[in-house]
This record gives sequence, C-alpha cells and structure tokens, in this order.
Amino acid sequence: MSLPPLAAYPALRLRRLRQADWTRRLVRETTLAPADLIWSMILHDGEGRLPVAAMPGVERLSVTEAAKAAVEARALGVPAIAVFPYIDGARKDAYGTEATNPDGLVCRAVKAMKDASPEVGIMCDVALDPFTDHGHDGLIQDGLIVNDASVERLVQQALVQAEAGCDIIAPSDMMDGRVAAIRHALEAAGFQDVMIMAYAAKYASAFYGPYREAIGSAKALVGDKKTYQMDPGNTDEALREVALDIAEGADMVMVKPGMPYLDIVRRVAETFSMPTFAFQVSGEYAMLMAAAQNGWLEEERAILESLHAFKRAGCAGVISYFAPRAARLLGA
Ligand code: PBG
Repeated sequence: MSLPPLAAYPALRLRRLRQADWTRRLVRETTLAPADLIWSMILHDGEGRLPVAAMPGVERLSVTEAAKAAVEARALGVPAIAVFPYIDGARKDAYGTEATNPDGLVCRAVKAMKDASPEVGIMCDVALDPFTDHGHDGLIQDGLIVNDASVERLVQQALVQAEAGCDIIAPSDMMDGRVAAIRHALEAAGFQDVMIMAYAAKYASAFYGPYREAIGSAKALVGDKKTYQMDPGNTDEALREVALDIAEGADMVMVKPGMPYLDIVRRVAETFSMPTFAFQVSGEYAMLMAAAQNGWLEEERAILESLHAFKRAGCAGVISYFAPRAARLLGA
C-alpha cells in the first residue's frame, strides 16, 4: 500500500484523533457487533449441561438446552450457531456409522433448535471425527486416510444434516473434492438453498486440543491429521485450497485456527473478496481463559479485542465459543 504524502509534525499530530471516546468512535475503521459472531456450541446426548474442564465457561448442552440457547442467540442478535457433538464411545466405529444416523444427536438438535428459533441459522460440521473410533475425519484403509471413499461418506453426512434442516453445511475434513461432491449432492436432492461454508484453509494445529476433550475424541485419536490438514508453515497453499473450494461451489470460506493465522485471513479476504470467516478455536479460548483466571489478562477486554482483531484482518465474521458472552458485552 502506498500512502499519499502526510503533513509533517507538528501540523500532523496523530494523537488529536485519539483524545476522546467520541472521536475514537468516529474514526474507528472496523467495528465488532453481535451480528459478526457464530456461536460455537458443543452438544451431548444426556440431560442438562456438562462443563468442559479444559474450557472454563463452556458446557456441553443437551438437545433441550440447545433449543433454549437458540432462543437466547436470537435475543442476543447472534445470527448463527455451529454445533459439534460429543458422541458416546459405544456409538463409535471405524466407519463413523453414527454420522449418518438421521435420528442422531446432531439431527435432533438441529430440528429442536430450528423449531424453537427459526430465525437463527444452524451450521453443521461435516467430518467423521466425533463418530469414528480412530478419531480421524475420514476413513482408514491399510493405515491411510483415504480420500475418495471418505468423500462419499461425507456427502451422506451432509445430506442427512440438510434433511434435518441445517442451513449451512461446513465441511471441516480437508479431503480433496468434497465441496464439489457435497454441492452436487445438495442440488440433486433439492437443497439448492443450503449454504456451504468450507473450512478451506484448515491447519494441522495444536490449538484444537481442548475441542478433542470437549467432543470426546482426544483418547480416540490415533496418530495425527497432517496428511489432510495443512502444514502451519504454508501460506500460498492456503490460497490454492481456498480457490479450489470457491471453484467447487463454496458460498463462504473459513480459515482455522484464528488468531495465530490472521495473516492467512488477510490474504484470503483480499485475494478472493468472498465472505471470509475465521474459527477462534478451543485452544485460543482456553489460553485466554487460563490467563484471565490467573489474573494475567483483563478478561472482558481481552475477549473483545481478540474478536475485533478478526474484523480488522478482513473477516466477515468469527466462529467463537465466546459468542454469547461477547454479544452480551457488546450490549445487544
Ligand atoms: C473436526 C473439527 C475440529 C474442530 C472443528 N471441527 C478438530 C480437528 O480437526 O481435529 C476444532 C474446533 C476447535 O478446536 O474449537 N474436523
């Protein structure tokens, strides 16, 4: 970026515009509002709410609680909720059979939430990891995560979610070709208005640790996800991933994790001019909360500043476990 010539000091004193709250608000380049947030929510198949130890303040919600939360989201002005299921170990197998159960936890929750609060968008994660006994997002053959057979399963999963009333299908599996396959299947099944938000540039990250506890896949995971999720050293590859998903029919794209990858957010937003989202993942949530609980960070300021950073980087919105709390802080 080249700047026009600036007046020299003291004609130009940049602090003039920072002298009072009203003038800071007046010249603020980006803003954060409840409408920028997608509430990341963990579901479970029991009763009530269960705390997640590694994520203080986050609870797994029952279907009934999730429906109440959808009503709360509407009142808070939070446009959408992304759901992630904790699946009992006894229901997991190598094939992720439970992922395509139309009466499974995700489908029942989607229906209950849409019934309770139809104005709130519901987003479902497409990946097999909550449902497989090996904890991977795809299928394993001869010790390898196989691409094309996994895509077939993911398409079935997406269709079951769309059937349940899901508004946004969000493939997080990082298999090649899955967005095209899902888009094609949705069109063919009459779901032309169901949106796809692709986890387009998703990295093999240590920051997903607490999530795996939250959904109960931590103990299950065999090995790592480096053959399908991206290498944290790469940035050009992120543009190729995003370009491919857009060409395949993604309506919105996502970068994940969030705060450590704001450089990727900026490049993606500038390059493609598509609605670009970032996921402030479980590890980011845990870090902020741990520091705040030790008295090392001002909790509420740090939450809002971390979310605002995504807007400044070029995001249309942020998927976050802080969404309801941040919306309340923003005074919705
Ligand atoms: C599943 C999935 C993951 C997350 C969202 N969807 C974990 C992973 O890929 O291992 C992470 C969310 C978080 O850490 O908050 N594919």
